[in-house]
Amino acid sequence: MEENKRDSWGSNFGFLLAAVGSAVGLGNIWGFPYKMGKNGGGAFLIIYLALIVIVGLAVMLGELVIGRKTGMGPVGAYKKLSKKYALVGYMGLLSGFLILSFYSVLGGMVGKYMISFLISMLSGGSTFNNLTSAEFFSNFTINGWEMLIYCFLFLLATTFIVMKGISNGIEKFTKVAMPALAVLLIVIITFVLCQDGAVEGLKFMFKPDFSVYSSSSDIGFFTVLKTAAGQMFFSLSLGMGCMITYGSYLKKNTNLEKNAIIIPIADTFVAIMAGMVVMPAVFAYGLEPSAGPSLLFISLHEVFVTGMGGFIGSLMGFLFYLLVFIAAITSSISLLEVCSSFINDKKQEEHKKTNRKLPTIIISLMVFVIGVPVALDGLGSSNAIINFQPFGYCWLDFYDLISEGILMPIGALIMSLIIGWGFKTKIIKTEIEEGGLYKLKGFVFWDICFKIIVPITMLIILYAQFQDFGIIK
Ligand code: TRP
Repeated sequence: MEENKRDSWGSNFGFLLAAVGSAVGLGNIWGFPYKMGKNGGGAFLIIYLALIVIVGLAVMLGELVIGRKTGMGPVGAYKKLSKKYALVGYMGLLSGFLILSFYSVLGGMVGKYMISFLISMLSGGSTFNNLTSAEFFSNFTINGWEMLIYCFLFLLATTFIVMKGISNGIEKFTKVAMPALAVLLIVIITFVLCQDGAVEGLKFMFKPDFSVYSSSSDIGFFTVLKTAAGQMFFSLSLGMGCMITYGSYLKKNTNLEKNAIIIPIADTFVAIMAGMVVMPAVFAYGLEPSAGPSLLFISLHEVFVTGMGGFIGSLMGFLFYLLVFIAAITSSISLLEVCSSFINDKKQEEHKKTNRKLPTIIISLMVFVIGVPVALDGLGSSNAIINFQPFGYCWLDFYDLISEGILMPIGALIMSLIIGWGFKTKIIKTEIEEGGLYKLKGFVFWDICFKIIVPITMLIILYAQFQDFGIIK
């Protein structure tokens, strides 16, 4: 049946660009630098890198293998492995909805900043009307309608790309977007590092403060470990089936083992580069490297408007938010693809005709609706339209905790148990050697990761997470 032929990547390089595009996003540019800065700098980086090697690589490989083997998104894929695993797929799907809904709100905000700087650049700095950066931010975030409109536009752009399909939409877009992102990053990093005082930012980011590991510090080893692990999963797009879905469009003649190593290296490289933009910029202009959305929006806004100022400030501001916008879109398309492939996988199972457009539109609308509270609670501001905060968290943090904090580590835990103990890691070997072109090189390493290291790390993280919630002492 021609209409049921599954789309696929045009080339392995196209796949790599798209997968790196999925990985590189707000997590790298905004989450990574401030989490690193707050959790011991170099001391955090060491744990982060170690976690990538002993957990991230294996989970990445596991997801790619499951995807290519089954040729389906997470729900269909786990079902195909065994009916009893279907729940893991559904958990991934739920995470996808939650993450995409808050991601779109943030993406929309980035869009607003990008447009404001463009207008400011063209009109000689009049868009910010003497508002301070904090006022500009709070005026915007408590304006529910504006938040909703920008979120909607961001989702619309995402939907438009995903609707066009894998090779014609996602791959085509990332082939332009990723090189553009690289060029922008180089331009901005060069400019920022030339500012006086930039070195202080690098010191803040990289200076190892090993005292954070000690139990007498107010951070502690487990918090560093948990933060690094959560950040790693989020940044590599792991734990909810994103890489399963992207892997499902790979042809059998691709080297999965190599791909599983290239994507994390590229992602980490960009995270460190992005950190070297954000932190030096913040320090060069004497601002606080404080956490949360305020870093990306208030502090950096101030850097461009007040610190650099004038035309150059607006130009750099525009280029910076354009970079963040591109990074966010190449990630949101991967999240939407996970959710909307679910419908077509289902149809394929039932031997019904598949169609890309309608399911993608329906899923985006659902995501938009789920994101409404995130857009309307002013990120936790008391002046916002929605004042109710679940368990005392603002809606963005709440969605993030359910997905990144709970569902994704559980998903990765079960996946590694299935691969390591259920399939004795043989599933990895068979799938990699499937086309007869490649031999699996690191069987023993992967075997130990899946059987022991990943499950134990996930259990520790879940323990620390539940402790945070006050569920266990
Ligand atoms: N990795 C992206 C970032 O760093 C976000 C992202 C895309 C993601 N797809 C994902 C996070 C799947 C978790 C799961 O911003």
